[in-house]
Amino acid sequence: IQIVKVKDYATLSKKAAMYIAAEIVQREKPVLGLATGSTPVGTYQVLREMYQEGKLDFTAVRSVNLDEYRGLAPEDSHSYRYFMNQELFHHVNIAKENTHVPDGSLSDAQEACESYERLIESLGGIHLQILGLGHDGHIGFNEPSDSFPAKTHCVQLTEETISANQRFFNSKDEVPREAYTMGIGTIMQAEKILLLVSGRDKAAILKKVLEGPVSPEVPASILQFHKNVILIADEDALSKCS
Ligand code: F6R
Repeated sequence: IQIVKVKDYATLSKKAAMYIAAEIVQREKPVLGLATGSTPVGTYQVLREMYQEGKLDFTAVRSVNLDEYRGLAPEDSHSYRYFMNQELFHHVNIAKENTHVPDGSLSDAQEACESYERLIESLGGIHLQILGLGHDGHIGFNEPSDSFPAKTHCVQLTEETISANQRFFNSKDEVPREAYTMGIGTIMQAEKILLLVSGRDKAAILKKVLEGPVSPEVPASILQFHKNVILIADEDALSKCS
């Protein structure tokens, strides 16, 4: 894992956007794996600005998102599809049909997951996958467990994740209990991975991810085995690392 240490969240966002922009510029048909959550919001903001300033063109970009709540329709304001539209897609010239998020309104979990895997395959795989890091070490919605799930699958969210995501809902009861997520195998197949971590509250888990044993109890620790991971983290997030 190549570590890029930055001063603060604003710098992290600028750097991450530059890496993503470089990928877009270099590829004929870039396939970006995208994440939701708070961490990439600043990065998406910088990408929007680059587009608005005429510096970046999304015409050829195809995107696949990591995950989506099961049971939420794409139009639901709490869905990750809605989030992506608001934070990025609506503000740049990416074609709607080239953006993909697992469909939370599909109740047939097997079909929802298998079709998502087929979709990623049909795009030729992911060139650059953006990841945030959960406080329990999750990536996508791959929660700590006793094995690494390979493919896109349906998960039961842990209490910790439900509580952490409660801030986006009116109450904890409204947070969906299940989600569709790319598997660890799906993520590991990406050619390149950009892991973004910010804040002191992530310092303890980031230390485990980077320096601890590779274990499904800390799902992100598997990234130690990927040959092309760039971690952009701020000083606070890296404050417990040696
Ligand atoms: C989002 C996702 C999650 C988040 C993680 C960190 O699509 O898959 O794994 O990346 O929960 O979230 P934030 O950035 O809000 O701390």
